[in-house]
Amino acid sequence: MSEFHGWPDAGVRRLPQHIYTDRDNFQRELDKIFFANSWNYVALSCEVPEPGDYILSSVGNVGVIVSRDRKGAIRVFVNRCTHRGARLCEKRKGNNKLFTCPYHEWRFNLEGRLVGVPLSQGVKGKGGMSAQFDPQNHGLKQLNVCERHGVVFASFSNDMVPLETYLGPKVLRYFDRVCDGRPLKVIGKHKHVVAGNWKLQIENVKDTVHAAILHSFFTLFGIWRSDQETEIVVEDKGMHSVLASTATFSKQQTHSEEVDSEFSLLDPSLIAHEAEFSHATGAVMTIWPNLIFLQQLNCLVMRHVEPVSQDKCVKTWTFFAYEDEDPALTARRVKQANLLGASGLVTIDDNEILASCQVGLQQQSQFECAIEYGEGTSDCDHMVSESAIRGFYNYYRQVMEL
Ligand SMILES: [Fe+2]
Repeated sequence: MSEFHGWPDAGVRRLPQHIYTDRDNFQRELDKIFFANSWNYVALSCEVPEPGDYILSSVGNVGVIVSRDRKGAIRVFVNRCTHRGARLCEKRKGNNKLFTCPYHEWRFNLEGRLVGVPLSQGVKGKGGMSAQFDPQNHGLKQLNVCERHGVVFASFSNDMVPLETYLGPKVLRYFDRVCDGRPLKVIGKHKHVVAGNWKLQIENVKDTVHAAILHSFFTLFGIWRSDQETEIVVEDKGMHSVLASTATFSKQQTHSEEVDSEFSLLDPSLIAHEAEFSHATGAVMTIWPNLIFLQQLNCLVMRHVEPVSQDKCVKTWTFFAYEDEDPALTARRVKQANLLGASGLVTIDDNEILASCQVGLQQQSQFECAIEYGEGTSDCDHMVSESAIRGFYNYYRQVMEL
């Protein structure tokens, strides 16, 4: 039986630990955040280029099918047969003319309409669907969909502001910096479980402080240091944020200068960077509620965090490139996808530490976390601030009514 402990008087400088451990709070998050007024990243549109192409994704913990209909529009359906609730699609991606449920073979067309019900007339004049049954009332549940520059978002709400308004001008500028309308192509996928609450994962990439401490690889080779040129941008309501920063690199890019170390890179091309954007070698965006949009060196990736339960999330990485770019640049991106991806030299630290946090938070969930680096929730020009995390919780408290 869960117990609501309320929010501490200190506001978002303190986080009650039960928000990471309580099952009822998790269910409340699904209802108030993921199934309510949020634009949820689901896919890149280049993943479903042709009519009938589909890919599985999720909104909150609900599986969805992202597909392209006969007229070329992207649709997002709940991956659930309207008859008895079975999963319609099991294969991660493919091309279909119809979606057929494996249980009773109810068929749905690419627009989500129920177009086939086996044995609807019965057998030899006996049985079949009741006279009241109207297939029109049993189409697939469809979500509201929007797309910007090849990135697809979905919402259970039909009362959404346009994505551009949702992101706000400061974050939109960074979004468009990478996704500027050039056609995209997917160059790799990773998927793995994180043994921690989904918010720990989102906070982790809003947390500039840990990056130069926990990730010794970053510090050693000058990719992320506490004193480098930085901009933290927090959307006005706190929903989204951007951490943009410029790597200093070590002079030789092969061994450490800041720390006296015997470590060096056998293959310096691992971190060799080709300048693509006007400023900052890395921009880590978090888009409410659960998208991490990362540009670091030449690695471009959408990290989609699926909340599975209060103590577990699944992270799907979609690495991408521009369709018409130099193959040498694509090869560089693939190499850096391995450096920065699920089992690379950075994320592996985070996976370990987030699992460790979850254990500590669960053991005595009556306590509070202290979010005291820096002040307030506004933008800043240095790394030693948790303002983006406080901003996130300002908005969280508002929508969760906590
Ligand atoms: Fe990290």
